[in-house]
Amino acid sequence: MTQKNLLTGPTLRFDGNPMTRGWQDAVRIDSDGAVLLADGVIAAVGTANQLRKAHPQAVETHYGDDHLICPGFVDAHVHYPQTGIIASWGKRLIDWLNDYTFPEEMRLSDTAYAQEVATRYLDLTRAHGTTTVASYCTIHPHSVDALFSAAATRNQRIVAGKTCMDRNAPEGLRDTAQSAYDDSKALIERWHGTGRASYAITPRFSPTSTPDQLAALGALWGENPDCLMQTHLSEQTDEVAWVRDLFPQARDYLDTYEAHGLLGARAVFGHAIYLEPREIDRIAETGAALVHCPTSNTFIGSGLFDMAALATRNIPIGLATDTGGGSSFSMLRTMAAAYEIGQLRGTPLHAAQLIWLATAGSAITLHLGDKIGSLSTGNEADVTVLDLSSTPAIAQRQAQAKDAWESLFATIMMGDDRAIADVWIAGARQP
Ligand code: GUN
Ligand code: ZN
Repeated sequence: MTQKNLLTGPTLRFDGNPMTRGWQDAVRIDSDGAVLLADGVIAAVGTANQLRKAHPQAVETHYGDDHLICPGFVDAHVHYPQTGIIASWGKRLIDWLNDYTFPEEMRLSDTAYAQEVATRYLDLTRAHGTTTVASYCTIHPHSVDALFSAAATRNQRIVAGKTCMDRNAPEGLRDTAQSAYDDSKALIERWHGTGRASYAITPRFSPTSTPDQLAALGALWGENPDCLMQTHLSEQTDEVAWVRDLFPQARDYLDTYEAHGLLGARAVFGHAIYLEPREIDRIAETGAALVHCPTSNTFIGSGLFDMAALATRNIPIGLATDTGGGSSFSMLRTMAAAYEIGQLRGTPLHAAQLIWLATAGSAITLHLGDKIGSLSTGNEADVTVLDLSSTPAIAQRQAQAKDAWESLFATIMMGDDRAIADVWIAGARQP
């Protein structure tokens, strides 16, 4: 029999969505909580005393009062191939893509380099407490194999897809409508539902796909409806104007996807800053999800996502680093940036909402809410334990905290990988 692990200490629990109801009713911290990990899943949740008594054979790891046992962080929109060019200076989206991103993505034509970056990326994100990502790869199918294989080695749940581009990208970084369809189809057959992997059909964004390619990927999605479809939507005003020129028949940016079969409940759109009322209505009607990428939106100079307005439309919203347009691998830093953008909009998010977005919220946008993102019995045993006094600066603030939320908020605003005390993936404590 495999070892059962009992984690005891302050535990984060969810009873609902804190974006659409009062956070006090949806999120709580059990100060004397416990989570039992067995056979890769969360076998029980309760108080420390209850679970100690019920499972005397379990090996206990106790986390003290200045810790918080959380679900593993879920980063709902990343580009692992951009790991090596994170924090590149001074460009906005289109120039940033051409000058920094495409040259680096070209380097992943080398399989060994793709494998090296995939491993480095998963090392870095795990060190920051992230246990699942939804990643774009490059146009090279082996870049998808590299990430799925690296994740499988660690037993990590992962979402990924081959980025498809057949125009407005350099020679060497373009596929065709047909090869995008064929390669994506073969990757779906190889990886979708294999272990903890799931596939996302991934047109990069409308400017880099011809209508033929969008239609081919729409058809592929129709044939594989339980795959996700991830892409970018309305990130910068120049980009929105470019899409208008490229697709004169389209009613708006969203319509360039919708007209080609690329809108539905399993669609996940990154950024979504400059949405028209019709687009918001259609997203809400279809059940598609949006992903807020706050460090990216400030770093590349995109704009301020309107979390408060979109959340009240019941649109599922996740949180993401958008590495390497985003300037950090850390979901703590990403929560801090989401807080700051909320402040600029006059709608600050509470710590309970921020941590929910980084876990359950992101998991729900990826249609994985019944597997990851919350410490619920039956979910997979991905757990991140925070040290809430990880640096002298945080510790001195935490010492004055009036309650657990104030204490968590200091770590959200000032924490980094030093605040990650432990990461458990599929029930196994990580090195
Ligand atoms: N739009 C199209 N491609 C990208 C990308 O790689 N990063 C970001 N932030 N936006 C994009
Ligand atoms: Zn992106």
